[in-house]
Amino acid sequence: MSNRTFTMIKPDAMKNGHAGAILDKIIKAGFRVVALKQTKLSAEKAGEFYAVHKERPFYGELVEFMSSGVIIAAILEKDNAVADFRTLIGATDPAKADEGTIRKLFATSVGENAVHGSDSDENAKIEGSFFFSGLEQY
Ligand code: PPS
Repeated sequence: MSNRTFTMIKPDAMKNGHAGAILDKIIKAGFRVVALKQTKLSAEKAGEFYAVHKERPFYGELVEFMSSGVIIAAILEKDNAVADFRTLIGATDPAKADEGTIRKLFATSVGENAVHGSDSDENAKIEGSFFFSGLEQY
C-alpha cells in the first residue's frame, strides 16, 4: 500500500466550473497536494496516457475528449491513497456512482466523468511521472 495517487480534473469539469469545488472535496477528504498544475493534453499525449485502453471501442472518443480543453493534473498523498481516492470519486459511470461522490455530483456521463484516479500504486507512479518531474513534487 503506497500513500500516493494521481488525478486529473477532466475538461468537462473544468468547462463546467467545478474545479474549485472538486479540489475542496479532495482536500477536505484528507489528501495533501504533492504537485498540481493546469495544462492541456495534445491528442498525441492523451493517446499515450491512455495507451493501455487502445483496443477498447471508446479509445478514440476518450482521447478526443481528454485533449478537448484544459485539465488540472495533481499528485495526492494520504494513507491508502489509491483506494480511498477511488472511493471518493465513485464509479466510472456517474449513474452508478454512490451519493456524495465526486462523479455523482459533477460528472456528465460515463465518457465525460469529471475526474481520473489511478487504479493501482504502480500506475499512480507512472501517471504522476508522466506529468511531473521529481523536482515538482513536494
Ligand atoms: S477504470 O477506472 O480503468 O476501471 O475504468 P474503465 O471503465 O476501465 O475505463 C477506463 C477509462 O476509460 C473511460 N471510459 C470511457 N470513455 C469514453 N466512453 C466510454 N464509454 C467510456 N467508458 C470508460 C473512463 O472514464 C476511464 O478513464 P479514466 O480517466 O481512467 O477515469
